[in-house]
Amino acid sequence: MLATLSLPRHSIKAYTKLGLHVYDPLIVNLVAPRVWGCDPEVLVEHYRRHVTFNHADIGVGTGFFLDRCGFESPNPRLALIDLQPNCLAHTARRLSRYRPSTYLRDVLDPMTGLPGGPFDSVALGGIIHCLAGDLPFKSRVFDNIRPLTRPGTKIFGYTLVYDGVPLRISRRLVHPLLNRLRVIDNTNDRSSDLHAALSARFIDCNVELIGCMALFSAVVPTAASTRQ
Ligand SMILES: C[S@@+](CC[C@H](N)C(=O)[O-])C[C@H]1O[C@@H](n2cnc3c(N)ncnc32)[C@H](O)[C@@H]1O
Repeated sequence: MLATLSLPRHSIKAYTKLGLHVYDPLIVNLVAPRVWGCDPEVLVEHYRRHVTFNHADIGVGTGFFLDRCGFESPNPRLALIDLQPNCLAHTARRLSRYRPSTYLRDVLDPMTGLPGGPFDSVALGGIIHCLAGDLPFKSRVFDNIRPLTRPGTKIFGYTLVYDGVPLRISRRLVHPLLNRLRVIDNTNDRSSDLHAALSARFIDCNVELIGCMALFSAVVPTAASTRQ
């Protein structure tokens, strides 16, 4: 674990204190609707549909969506998980009303050592496109989150895929630039591969493409439903 954490990671380098300061106005409120073609309200709705009050959030960024989605209980159990300490500190401060727990973890390693038992929902919002490699390689994250889950746990999130990139000139400019800067790595990501990765592990799998954002959800099966 320590060896992994000491490696420099392109996937977290954008989230400096300054980066987090401009993230909501620039990325969430401008680039997402104008370039990705996905309004932030759509992602807030995605959270509302799937989040529970026993929730683990991996790749928290600024906590924009967690701040807006609302929970069924005023006292949810909320675990914030990220490899970037700036993101954990920023989001924990923003969501202090929920008294979240924070965990410095790499999603490319198994998510062991979190106290308190499994969660009823686990979100991977906007993190898969940050990870290096193709989707079959990145899909190991779905195996790594297994210690956080039990049968019935909802898995959900969203990730930028390349399927819709050729459709808009702004995307044809911005995606290659962000890939070259290695802030994202999604040139080989396709929504069909995402669906295949989810279906190989979970039940009730859904992938919906909105602009070039693939919104996904799935449920951890019981042993019996895996055998069917
Ligand atoms: C694009 S932001 C997404 C933020 C937020 N979930 C959203 O939807 O706006 C990606 C987040 O993933 C985190 N991250 C990137 N690579 C990671 C890794 N290997 N393990 C854990 N977190 C990682 C970054 O630090 C950042 O908080």
